[in-house]
Amino acid sequence: MARRKYVVGNWKMNGLSASIAEAQAIFAEAQSHASVDVAICPPFTLVGALAAAVPGKAIGGQDCHSAASGAFTGSVAAPMLADVGATVVIVGHSERREAFGESDDDVRAKAEAGLAAGLSVILCVGEPRAIRESGGAIGHVLAQIAGSVPDAFDPQRLAIAYEPIWAIGTGLVPTLADVAAMHGAIRGALTARFGGAAQDMRILYGGSVNGDNAAELLGADDVDGALVGGASLTAAKFVPIIAAADALAG
Ligand code: 13P
Repeated sequence: MARRKYVVGNWKMNGLSASIAEAQAIFAEAQSHASVDVAICPPFTLVGALAAAVPGKAIGGQDCHSAASGAFTGSVAAPMLADVGATVVIVGHSERREAFGESDDDVRAKAEAGLAAGLSVILCVGEPRAIRESGGAIGHVLAQIAGSVPDAFDPQRLAIAYEPIWAIGTGLVPTLADVAAMHGAIRGALTARFGGAAQDMRILYGGSVNGDNAAELLGADDVDGALVGGASLTAAKFVPIIAAADALAG
């Protein structure tokens, strides 16, 4: 079966109560693009309120702790996200790998915690600029995949997001050939490890996706959707990306 396109908004550390109306507008407008799965991952403070405001829609966390509970001041556990209505969690975002020192082992444990709590997981990988320039991008990303993807899961509940770090928030995007080569390499590595189940796993591209470049990026081989930062904050910017994904699904 063909993989459904998946467009996910990562609001990062943006959004106050007033943003709930924006999320409602996004999901209302996305309804006419029914071939696309849409999710929004707001900051923790909004997860419960947003899930309540858009019943039946996919709301997620941007991170979770690997433990289900305990003495971890400031952290949020995957069952807590599920408890307030989240169905998705992002793990291993480069901003957490870099700024919070998360290792592949940490990311894998978080992914396992998310799956155990019944959430779908979006597991992020991506190379820094120096590694891209030295020609090591694919090797770097495949090592992250080997180290951070759990061994056992429902393939429909774990998506990979390839986000080159140098493309995040910069307006820079890799060439389409580079995107297709990376996504193909990721699919190849997943197939070598999981066999045919890898065909059911979605591989998203993230990094400066917008309404102008979405059709091209989402049309590349093995690109099953997008993880969107800045352009996911408003319906005016996010819905055109969803519409582009819908047009490709036809
Ligand atoms: P931008 O879309 O703002 O480049 O962010 C990408 C990202 O990091 C999504 O997780």
